[in-house]
Amino acid sequence: MRKIQVVTLFPEMFDGVLNSSMMWKAQDQKAVEFKMINLRDFGLGPRQQVDDTPYGGGDGMLLMPQPLFAAIAAAKEYDSSAKVVLMTPRGQRWKQALAQTWADSGDGYIFVCGRYEGYDERVLELVDEQVSVGDYVLTGGELPAMTIIDSIVRLIPGVLGGENSAAIESFSDGETLEFPQYTRPEDFNGMKVPEVLLSGNHAAIAKWRAEHSLKSE
Ligand code: ADE
Repeated sequence: MRKIQVVTLFPEMFDGVLNSSMMWKAQDQKAVEFKMINLRDFGLGPRQQVDDTPYGGGDGMLLMPQPLFAAIAAAKEYDSSAKVVLMTPRGQRWKQALAQTWADSGDGYIFVCGRYEGYDERVLELVDEQVSVGDYVLTGGELPAMTIIDSIVRLIPGVLGGENSAAIESFSDGETLEFPQYTRPEDFNGMKVPEVLLSGNHAAIAKWRAEHSLKSE
């Protein structure tokens, strides 16, 4: 079973997403196990401090190294070969081909979510991958981590309903994204389903879908 762990100050943010729909089904089928690690539990002193001001001055607070190192060590104790993934707008841009590679890899993952203005740079000592979901800055790494986890888990064999749904959707190369799809009725308020999709001609349908797919880059 794949182990996906998340180091975060806000584990409750993940409750709805990971316990609904496909992510819930993936756990129910024992394809994946999610484990939240609350960074606050590794905070320093009576106030369980996790952040401090930056050396050299500047606005905002940074996550301190000690709680991050301790939380990641706890995650590694549970899954020693897991890859440590730092969520940061400075990371490589997430894309479908990476989701496919990571889903196929069989590896466990530890997603580390930042808050405040960022991390003490020394955390990079422990990090295998840095990932961004786009060129914009969010208030924390939780939403990016949820996005990335969802995109990986749905590609783990047996998680999606139809055997090939994930493969058909992106074709086989991961380069093309979804094509337009229609269900009943054939004519809705004068808006008609394209003729070719009703034709039963599989080659023509495949060609139409290829022509109407978005290219990923
Ligand atoms: N944390 C804040 N912004 C982010 C982004 N765009 N991608 C990943 N992690 C982030």
